[in-house]
Amino acid sequence: MLRPTLLAALIAAVAAFGLYWWLTAPAALALPAATRSPDLANGQELFNAGGCSSCHAVPNQPDRLRLGGGLALGSPFGTFYVPNISPDPADGIGRWSEADFVNAVLRGISPAGTHYFPSFPYTSYHLASIDDVRDLFAYLKTLPPVSGRVGDHALPFPFNIRRNLGIWKLLFMDTAPFVTDAGRSPQWNRGAYLVNGFGHCAECHSPRNALGGIIAGQRFAGGPNPDGEGWVPNITQQGIGSWSEKDIADFLETGDMPEGDSASGAMRPVIKNLAQLTAEDRAAMAIYLKSLPPVQGPTPPQRKQGG
Ligand code: HEC
Ligand code: HEC
Repeated sequence: MLRPTLLAALIAAVAAFGLYWWLTAPAALALPAATRSPDLANGQELFNAGGCSSCHAVPNQPDRLRLGGGLALGSPFGTFYVPNISPDPADGIGRWSEADFVNAVLRGISPAGTHYFPSFPYTSYHLASIDDVRDLFAYLKTLPPVSGRVGDHALPFPFNIRRNLGIWKLLFMDTAPFVTDAGRSPQWNRGAYLVNGFGHCAECHSPRNALGGIIAGQRFAGGPNPDGEGWVPNITQQGIGSWSEKDIADFLETGDMPEGDSASGAMRPVIKNLAQLTAEDRAAMAIYLKSLPPVQGPTPPQRKQGG
């Protein structure tokens, strides 16, 4: 009989869609109402740690604080165009509430309640504390408004369906907050917080699976550049075991490697941001990196000295 089969298929389809809709629903954070005066210096430190300028500054002009967006980011899934996050009320995020911003950075959810693509590294930023994100928001508001909206991403179906990212997030996004390791020093914990959270170092320095998720067992063990060009080195002790904590901290400030080379490619803009941090924060990151156990990552196509 065709009819009952059709009905059953219809019911199954509705149930499957219901399950899909339920699984992919964006879950926003509720912000505790708080009157606090933001710490702008802290906001600036986190802006630099987070490398927001590397992606959001208007390309091909010298001012790293003009966050009008427009940079094209290549990926295996298509091209992303980085949006305007300047305080412009019409084209940027000037009209956003603090809760809108906190949900974007910590949960990858837009004010309209849709998912952001993880090309915006909220998959790392989610470790940040709410108050740090509030300070960052307050700092961003002090930057110059830039007019001009950035166009849509160029992504083929099915990658252009934001709702599907709900599934991706279930698979690859951890929303647990940062946990202090009481057995480690305050500097180590600060380093762990910055490297894994705002610093989003693992986003480039880890291999990814076919769906673009970081391979958890090989975090920091290097891999192909997610933007498509070149190789990102292993920064566990497998790769930089011969570097001292001071070598690492110096590198994060100047880009100079102990062997005499200088950082190139995708690491250069990272250094530009990290150079603005306090020396204490760079030293903390170095202490944390030096503590990462050696992990063998994938083998680069042609042998390049990784240190
Ligand atoms: C690797 C590049 C990259 C970095 C680094 C980055 N972003 Fe983004 N950001 C993006 C992309 C791409 C999008 C668009 C995501 C989408 O459309 O789903 C985005 C979206 C956003 C949005 C949403 C804007 C809107 O109009 O909806 C905000 C807010 C934002 N980023 C803030 C930040 C902040 C704050 C930082 C630094 C802590 C930062 N981003 C660092 C790439 C980046
Ligand atoms: C946008 C991608 C990207 C991000 C984000 C990034 N890196 Fe890198 N990193 C690279 C690339 C590419 C190189 C190789 C540069 C070269 O060979 O000149 C590199 C090199 C390094 C090296 C030198 C390793 C060696 O063996 O030569 C260290 C150390 C390092 N990065 C640490 C960090 C830390 C710490 C962070 C987070 C604050 C970070 N990186 C974030 C792309 C990135």
